Amino acid sequence: MTWYLLLIVSFIFLINSSSAARVSINVQRLGARADGKTDVSKILLRAWNSACASRNPAQVYLPRGRYLIRSPIVFSGRNCRKSMAMRIDGTIVASTNYNLIGSAENWIKFERVNGLTVSGGTIDAKGTGLWNCKKSGKRCPNGATTLGFYSSTNVVVSGLTLVNSQMFHMIIYKCNNANIRGIKISARASSPNTDGIHVQLSSGTNIVNSRISTGDDCVSIGPGTTNTWIENVSCGPGHGISIGSLGWDAQEPGVQNLTVKSVTFRNTDNGVRIKTWARSSTGFVRNVLFQHIVMNNVRNPVLIDQDYCPNARNCPSKVSGVRISNVRYQDIRGSSATPVAVQLQCSKKYPCSGIRLQDIALTYRNQAAKASCAYAGGSASGVMKPSSCL
Ligand SMILES: *[C@@H]1O[C@H](CO)[C@@H](O)[C@H](O)[C@H]1NC(C)=O
Ligand SMILES: *[C@@H]1O[C@H](CO)[C@@H](O)[C@H](O)[C@H]1NC(C)=O
Repeated sequence: MTWYLLLIVSFIFLINSSSAARVSINVQRLGARADGKTDVSKILLRAWNSACASRNPAQVYLPRGRYLIRSPIVFSGRNCRKSMAMRIDGTIVASTNYNLIGSAENWIKFERVNGLTVSGGTIDAKGTGLWNCKKSGKRCPNGATTLGFYSSTNVVVSGLTLVNSQMFHMIIYKCNNANIRGIKISARASSPNTDGIHVQLSSGTNIVNSRISTGDDCVSIGPGTTNTWIENVSCGPGHGISIGSLGWDAQEPGVQNLTVKSVTFRNTDNGVRIKTWARSSTGFVRNVLFQHIVMNNVRNPVLIDQDYCPNARNCPSKVSGVRISNVRYQDIRGSSATPVAVQLQCSKKYPCSGIRLQDIALTYRNQAAKASCAYAGGSASGVMKPSSCL
């Protein structure tokens, strides 16, 4: 009897230990040329598909070198048998001809993968040509997001460097449990719409230990985003961390349970911002904590803007329907680049409630900064510089 048990136990152990060893598929062995000039898309897809068909967890491996992905590419996990990984020791580059990916939503897209790790390496979208086109006023494509994760679960992105995206650098869309850690994103301050990471319709996203400098939002949180954790991220230059823009759609899911902790902003337009269109909407923002935040020369360190309506167009009701409640600001310190360091401009129809300010120490040119509130309700405690306007 015990012999049988032992046999079964050791057999299970064998299965487990053999499945722990990832099968690695080296794209160079499949003929990928790492010269940065030969398109490797077909070979990458072949590698992905065989990893996907593997009975054991498998990884696609890109050794050192430069790999050109000329056109938009989609890695689908629909038929994968086990968790997937892509290990990049080299650099993936786009063509300098921005038209080749510029009209796609994503340049490199992962969809419907259950269990995915993308690690190492650099992804360079060579966006400068498109930015220059946009600046010149010529007709140009919108631009592609560099790296998209869609409808996937248990995603890990680690140690990756993303540079010079045409549009957003990364998007997390309809995902569950995405862990982004130790990544670096960089594009120059004047680059248009080059957001760092956009999260939408997703739950359980963690973004930690990362550095993001771009021409737009560091991290933006779109509608339907819940249980999000952002910690030890440094932002700047760029537009800061933004919840929103929310409330464009009349029927819109809300943002709930977000923590932003130990984040530093340097020379950004905003620090922590909540931004909603002045339009009717069912959207909401609730249970948000901003904690241990350092501002260095930030134009709008603490901002709620519910009157967003550029050029006064598309806002017939002129008032936001988004209900903001239970937002805590705890230990926010440093310097503002403008006199008004705290601005809480809430909806006239649905005033903010449960705003809690605690230990705020913000200066403007080494003097006291100002706070300005409209339709904002809540309480203040601890150090309060500027003094509370609630
Ligand atoms: C914070 O993130 C940086 C990378 O940006 C890393 O070097 C550092 O170790 C992290 N700090 C902690 C406490 O994890
Ligand atoms: C809020 O989100 C965190 C993850 O960021 C999660 O651990 C926690 O359980 C969530 N809280 C609620 C009440 O859902």
